[in-house]
Amino acid sequence: MDMYVIQGGQPLRGTVTISGSKNACLPLMCAALLAKTPTVLENVPDLRDIRSMKSVLEHMNVRAEFANGRMTIDPAGFDTPWVPYELMSQMRASMYAFGPMIARLDRASVSKPGGCNIGSRPIDLHLKGFRALGVHMNERGGYIHAVHDGLMGAEMSLAGPFGPSVGATCNILMAATLAEGRTVIHDAAREPEIVELGEFLIAMGARISGLGSSTLVIDGVKTLNGVNWTVMPDRIEAATFATAALLTHGDIVMKNVTAAHMGATLSELLRWGAEITLLDEERTIRVRRCPSRDPEPLDLTTGPYPQLATDVQALFVTLLGLTPGTSRVEEGIYQDRFMHVEELNRLGANIRQKGNRAIIRGVERYDGAPVMASDLRAGAALTLAALAAHGESQVRRIYHVERGYEHFERKLAALGANIRREKQRDAVPAFDVGEGGEESREA
Ligand code: EPZ
Repeated sequence: MDMYVIQGGQPLRGTVTISGSKNACLPLMCAALLAKTPTVLENVPDLRDIRSMKSVLEHMNVRAEFANGRMTIDPAGFDTPWVPYELMSQMRASMYAFGPMIARLDRASVSKPGGCNIGSRPIDLHLKGFRALGVHMNERGGYIHAVHDGLMGAEMSLAGPFGPSVGATCNILMAATLAEGRTVIHDAAREPEIVELGEFLIAMGARISGLGSSTLVIDGVKTLNGVNWTVMPDRIEAATFATAALLTHGDIVMKNVTAAHMGATLSELLRWGAEITLLDEERTIRVRRCPSRDPEPLDLTTGPYPQLATDVQALFVTLLGLTPGTSRVEEGIYQDRFMHVEELNRLGANIRQKGNRAIIRGVERYDGAPVMASDLRAGAALTLAALAAHGESQVRRIYHVERGYEHFERKLAALGANIRREKQRDAVPAFDVGEGGEESREA
């Protein structure tokens, strides 16, 4: 297992190109199976999750070739209506295969996804939607088995206890394109990745209206055709580099972004005290600390789009950990997504977690320490914290980070970070009983 070894304290400066969005690309790869002809995706990020989804497609006898950011998906052989536990347990987004299997092969079996590091992630809304379309389902041996004798358009709500579900909206949207008649999804998710999927399906020949709103109307068609498509930029990766600029007192220009997808993130960063410049028709963003004002603490709540994304919560907590004053962050999507808090405290942060809230008292500095990534975004946030910290840190279990950040350490190093990758080894403590010297910290 590898880890990042980071000497913190370098301001990150320069230009970085943001990669294609993982969370947009995963459903597009599955949506390609709705056609009988090949699809070519461009700007595909080279990530563990993308390769896991490629394995899911290959398991279903779909030919997928991936090189230099281009993936060609030929669904001619698509004939296997099930996803095994081994693949499902690697990545919950394998659930996106369900919709295309149901629509094209009339049946589907998937291993039931278990819990994960960011808390409970049920799939009841996916199943509710498929039932509404006329799919019969039962659960046996840890698998969900589904079959139908004609997908029928239907009206449904996909509202859950924490708002609409991105995954369920994608899955039902895909299946409904080939259902008979009209499907209306109320309380649909509105994330830019859903709009991207809808536009991709329209390019394939689907009839969809209401994209970007919470009501989607889909009129089923008989067949769809493969298309050439360029995957949208990753708004969460862009938020990560923006936060990196602010945490390290740097100045970063991000290319290949869509500022319009980052409304809540950018406006909270502005409130905090960032200077944000939009260039090149809002496809380039420059971020640094505002030279004429001090950063301010924030009260934030994450929620469904267009609210602040849960995927940037750990980044904000890390930034606010170094912001004078008291900030409060409430997690509105995943009640337990706070595994980074204790790790940040190991770096010297002063954060108290109570239920789905974190109360953050800003400290003057973080000090290097070994820390452990518990999930993708926590791992990214800890890497940034280490870059801002004094001294050396080791960020362990970086395989989580590599699920979603393309060439992360290479991009950070190009911006001036002192980061290298090594095999994980024991962390040897620097022996310091702290005799009241400047460098010691109260326990
Ligand atoms: C997507 O997950 C993203 N994953 C997540 O990104 C992201 O955090 C999440 O949306 C929210 O924005 C991908 O796009 C691959 P949901 P998804 O269904 O679709 C509840 C990352 O770091 N819910 O919108 O699984 C659920 O428990 C990842 O890149 C139900 O109750 O999320 C949660 O509270 C992590 N029943 C809320 O809805 C269901 O059937 C939103 O989940 C489904 C979800």
